[in-house]
Amino acid sequence: MSEAEIGLIGLGTMGSNLALNIAEKGHRIAVWNRTGARTKAFVKQAGPLADNIVACDTLEELMGAIRPPRPVIMMVPAGDAVDEQIAVLRPMAAQGDILIDAGNANFHDTERRTKDFENSGIAFVGMGVSGGEEGARHGPSIMVGAEKEAWQRIEKIVTDIAAKYEDEACAAWLGTGGAGHFVKTIHNGIEYADMQMIAEIYGILRDGLGLGAADIGAIFARWNEGRLNSYLIEITATVLAASDPDSGMPVVDVILDKAGQKGTGRWSVIEAAMLGVPATGIEAAVAARGLSALKKEREGAAKLYAPTAQPSSAASQADIVAELESALLAGKIAAYAQGFAVMQAASAEHGWNLPMATVARIWRAGCIIRSQFLGEIAQAFEGRAKIANLMVAPAFVDIMSAVHPALRITVGRAALQGLPTPALSASLAYFDGYRQARGTANLIQAQRDFFGAHGFEKIGTKGEKHGPWAGSVSGKKK
Ligand SMILES: NC(=O)c1ccc[n+]([C@@H]2O[C@H](COP(=O)([O-])OP(=O)(O)OC[C@H]3O[C@@H](n4cnc5c(N)ncnc54)[C@H](OP(=O)(O)O)[C@@H]3O)[C@@H](O)[C@H]2O)c1
Repeated sequence: MSEAEIGLIGLGTMGSNLALNIAEKGHRIAVWNRTGARTKAFVKQAGPLADNIVACDTLEELMGAIRPPRPVIMMVPAGDAVDEQIAVLRPMAAQGDILIDAGNANFHDTERRTKDFENSGIAFVGMGVSGGEEGARHGPSIMVGAEKEAWQRIEKIVTDIAAKYEDEACAAWLGTGGAGHFVKTIHNGIEYADMQMIAEIYGILRDGLGLGAADIGAIFARWNEGRLNSYLIEITATVLAASDPDSGMPVVDVILDKAGQKGTGRWSVIEAAMLGVPATGIEAAVAARGLSALKKEREGAAKLYAPTAQPSSAASQADIVAELESALLAGKIAAYAQGFAVMQAASAEHGWNLPMATVARIWRAGCIIRSQFLGEIAQAFEGRAKIANLMVAPAFVDIMSAVHPALRITVGRAALQGLPTPALSASLAYFDGYRQARGTANLIQAQRDFFGAHGFEKIGTKGEKHGPWAGSVSGKKK
C-alpha cells in the first residue's frame, strides 16, 4: 500500500468531511480517531473514496503511514484537547514534520504553541477553516498562520481542497503564528453582526409590519437578487420558507428564541477591546445573544411594561421594505468596517502584515459570510498600503452616503415602536461617531483632569495642560 501524503486526527463533523474532501482531490490520507468505532463507520461512509484513505487503529500506525516529512491535521475541539493531542504526538514527530491545528483555536493558544515548537525542527501551523460541514466536505475558506516554509509545503493540498471563487482558491497564508486563527475569529465576529442585523430586520418585518414568515422569506429571497446577495441572506429566505412537519407552522415560529454561542464572537469583542478598536456592531451582536439566553427574565419583564404605543406612519409598506434593505446594507458596511479595522490593528500589534485584500478575497466563497460584497471590499483594499477604515474608501463613501439615511429612519422608527435593533443602532452610532469631526471627548478629558489630574491637550498648543479647577483634587496637586 502506498504511503499517505497527509494525516488527520479527529473524525468528527469537520474532520470526517475534510478527510473526504482531501481524498476526493486525489491526496492519499491516513486517519485516526480516539474512538475506533468512529473510524470504522467513517471508512464505510467513504464509499469509493476509501481507496485513498488509510484507516489507522493507533497514532503510531498513523505516523507510520505518512510519507515524511509528515503533515498531520488535528481536527479536535479547541483548547485542552489540542494540547493533549500535541503532548502525545510530539514525541512521535520527527524533524520536518508539520502539526496543523485546524480547529477554532483562540489565537493566543496558537501563538503559545508556535513558540513551544520554535527551533524544534517541527513546524506548528494554525489553520482557520470556515464553512461548516458542507464547506469542509466540498470546499471551505482556509486561513493559514505559519512560517512561510511550512505553508509552502502544505500549500498544494490546502489550495486543492479550498472553495474556489472564479477558479481562485479561497485559501491563503496570512502571516506567522496566530494570524490565521485571528482572522478566523474576526470572520466569526463579523458573522455574528451580520446574522444579528438580519434577525433585527426580520423582527421589524414580523412585529412592526405584522408579516408572516413566508412573506418575510419572499422579501429576503428578493433582496438576495440585489446588493445584499450573500449566503446568509439566501439561507434566511430558505429557513423562513420552511414548515414544521409536526405542526405545519413555519419552522421559525416553533423555534425557541434563545441563541447559542461557542466563543469566537466573544473573543472578537475581547480582542477589539484589548486593541482599543471600536467594534460596536459586533459587541452588540454578542450581547444580543447573551440577552436572548435570558428568556425567563425577558418574559417576566415583558409583563411589567405596557406595550409601546405604535406611532402612526404615513410610509407605505413597500417604502418601509425598501428602507429596510438599504438599512441592512448600511449596517453591514459599518460592521465589516469594524472587523477589518480590528484585523488591521492586530496586524500592526503582532507584526503579521495581514494582506487585507487577500482576506476579503478568500472569504468570497466557502465561508459563512461569503458574498459578492466581499469582492467590493477586496477592491477597496487592493493596491493600497492601508485604508484607515472601510467607510472612507471612495466606493464605500458613495454607497454609505446613499444608504445611511435609511438606517437612520429604520433605527428611529424601531425605537419609537419599541423594537430592539442593538446591532443596527450600534452600527449607526459607530458611523455617526466616526464621521463627526468635533466629538464630545473634550468634556471627558475635562472630567478626568478634574478628578484625577490626568491632563489634556489644549487645541493649538503643545504639551499636557490642566484645568483651572479650584478646590478639586487635581487643583490641589498643581
Ligand atoms: N462544526 C462546525 O461547523 C465547525 C466549523 C468550523 C470549525 N469548527 C471547529 O473544528 C473543530 C472540530 O469540530 P467538530 O464540529 O468537528 O467537533 P466534533 O464533531 O465534536 O468532533 C470532535 C472530534 O475530536 C475528537 N476528540 C475530542 N476530544 C478529543 C481529545 N481530547 N483527544 C483526541 N480527540 C478528541 C473526537 O473524537 P471521539 O470520536 O473519540 O469523541 C471527534 O473525532 C473545533 O475546534 C470546532 O470549533 C467546527
